[in-house]
Amino acid sequence: MSAQDYVLAIDQGTTSTRSIVFDRHAHEISRARQEFAQHYPNAGWVEHCPEDIWNDVVTTSKAALEQAGGADRIAGIGITNQRETIVVWDRVTGKPVHRAIVWQDRRTAATCQKLKEEGAEALVRERTGLLIDPYFSATKLAWILDNVSGARGRAEKGELAFGTIDSFILWRLTGGKVHATDITNAARTLLFNIHTQQWDPELLRLFNIPAALLPEVKDNSTLFGETDPSLYGRAIPIAGMAGDQQAAVVGQACFTPGMAKATYGTGCFVLLNTGEKPVVSKHRMLTTIAYRIGGKTTYALEGSIFVAGAAIKWLRDGLHLITHASQTDDMATRIPHSHGVYMVPGFVGLGAPHWDPDARGLICGLTLDATAAHIARAALESVAYQTLDLVTAMMQDGGGTTDALRVDGGMSANDWFCQFLADMLQVKVERPQNVETTALGAGFLAGLATGVWENEATLASEWKRGELFEPSMNNEQRRTMIAGWHQAVKRTLTNQS
Ligand code: G3P
Repeated sequence: MSAQDYVLAIDQGTTSTRSIVFDRHAHEISRARQEFAQHYPNAGWVEHCPEDIWNDVVTTSKAALEQAGGADRIAGIGITNQRETIVVWDRVTGKPVHRAIVWQDRRTAATCQKLKEEGAEALVRERTGLLIDPYFSATKLAWILDNVSGARGRAEKGELAFGTIDSFILWRLTGGKVHATDITNAARTLLFNIHTQQWDPELLRLFNIPAALLPEVKDNSTLFGETDPSLYGRAIPIAGMAGDQQAAVVGQACFTPGMAKATYGTGCFVLLNTGEKPVVSKHRMLTTIAYRIGGKTTYALEGSIFVAGAAIKWLRDGLHLITHASQTDDMATRIPHSHGVYMVPGFVGLGAPHWDPDARGLICGLTLDATAAHIARAALESVAYQTLDLVTAMMQDGGGTTDALRVDGGMSANDWFCQFLADMLQVKVERPQNVETTALGAGFLAGLATGVWENEATLASEWKRGELFEPSMNNEQRRTMIAGWHQAVKRTLTNQS
């Protein structure tokens, strides 16, 4: 048998599942990807079929392993996932009792509003670093327990298991032997105390969740379990797990306080490493766990935008303005100016810093000479403006000053967007050679625990910069454009006078 110097990363995202094999120099050896169905059973509801997710995990991982010459060289598997999305399944049959309720789902907005009116937010904020919003897992889980016949009683008797997607995949990969999650996924449920680093009994009472449902919480880089040998022909250690945004922090090697990354997937999530101490935000940013390795916890400030790549997908699938996302680069470059056209992509409400689940999307500033290119450009610009709002808030929160932002994910491949982002933020925007940093981060975590890499410094030396974008727009033009954006946002908000 050859040396075990490869890692397999399984990246289960909101719209697709990717499996990628990396070697010890972080080079991609093989990859397979599968998009899957989104279910919208009601306005504002978003669901996934867990069996689709599982099938895609199996198909893509097997395809990636086959292209990489088989499973023999795999030292460990890393799992990373869309966060906050939940599954509840039967501990005996392994069958989910309901479709997965996705992080974007707004069905519990009224429950959240009621909890806020009852004054629960201060406790939640203090214990979890989050705020009360349907985005997070707890109210979705309570919804399943209250709406699936018999679920609450069965949960109390310990017959059901709850997990975020990482936990569900781990359960299935280990043939139902391991019910665990990692600390970054646990930290997104509203049930986990980020200071004591345990499930919090008071929060479980507040959200009415039986403790018998919960998985064990582990470090990000450790042995979670082994794959059932029937899957890949041998038992492979599952040795890394993290929510996708936290995995991207690791994949971008943001190991020093003050380093920040923005990942442009379906949404956009900016995480700023704040070191060993959790920083409390005055601007409705989230305090979250970046990673815990070797028992040592590193915290982050996070800004979450719900719609980034999803706005470009909407241009393609909803408006039919484009046939491929990459066309937006050309369209934006072709016109000299946005002509005062703004898009506020509040399709599923607005996340940080507004946290307005009832806000909706808007395009404004249209004149008769506005074209498809102006709308495409406004969509790209909206994502940069939202990133600016997050980074500004983080700086005001004392998260440190950042002179560079590391970007990754689909939209980061768009040069026009990266340049506009640098112009708006007035910091350098660094794009790595491989923008699949979420998967790489999961691979890094698995490789750290299995001896492929030694420590964080070794991982940092594998991070390779591709392009650098430096700010070049004049300040007056920048200020005018930003003022127009803020006016447009005001028109969409429902939670401000
Ligand atoms: O918090 C939700 C986030 O983890 C989803 O990420 O990349 O699927 O948009 P993505």
